[in-house]
Amino acid sequence: MDKMDALREKCLSCRSCPLAATRTKVVFGVGPAPSDIVFVGEGPGQQEDLTGEPFVGAAGRLLDDMLSIIDLGRQNCYICNIVKCRPPQNRDPMPEEQDACIGFLQEQLALLQPKIVVCLGRIAAMRLIREDFRITREHGQWTQKDGIWYSALYHPSALLRDVSKRPETFADLLSLRSKAREVGCIEYKTE
Ligand code: URA
Repeated sequence: MDKMDALREKCLSCRSCPLAATRTKVVFGVGPAPSDIVFVGEGPGQQEDLTGEPFVGAAGRLLDDMLSIIDLGRQNCYICNIVKCRPPQNRDPMPEEQDACIGFLQEQLALLQPKIVVCLGRIAAMRLIREDFRITREHGQWTQKDGIWYSALYHPSALLRDVSKRPETFADLLSLRSKAREVGCIEYKTE
């Protein structure tokens, strides 16, 4: 068993926070390892809880469309969440739940060795970029930490609710592709 499979096994049996009691399936994450580009959402919704796959509901279908605009897909980037179990009624994951789960993401990132981490929405951005991150003002901006480039996009659920945000997200996706080319992400190498 490789290290990612071992981490997945550990995660699937985790009972470190109350979300374990109400989950159907743990949603660990999907994609190749290593991966130069990693997307991090906030936590599983209903469809994800039922299937064990991240971003498979309506927001997930929009995420797939967003990725395809810049020639990405589930085969060439990694997709996961801050918390691996569904918060009831799709509420935001609480700080204690995030604290209980963040070690799994840290270990995933250590194994994935990404060049770029893209936060999907404010919850992931506040956890991974800066506690006082403001998604409306700072989406699409780049910041480097410990050798990894971080940015945030509006969460696909927010883009479903408010289509007026989509042009900004289109620009952010083009910026992501430029950054990925600049830092030599394997997904954009031609040979
Ligand atoms: N929203 C998220 O943040 N993550 C998912 O996996 C699905 C919806």
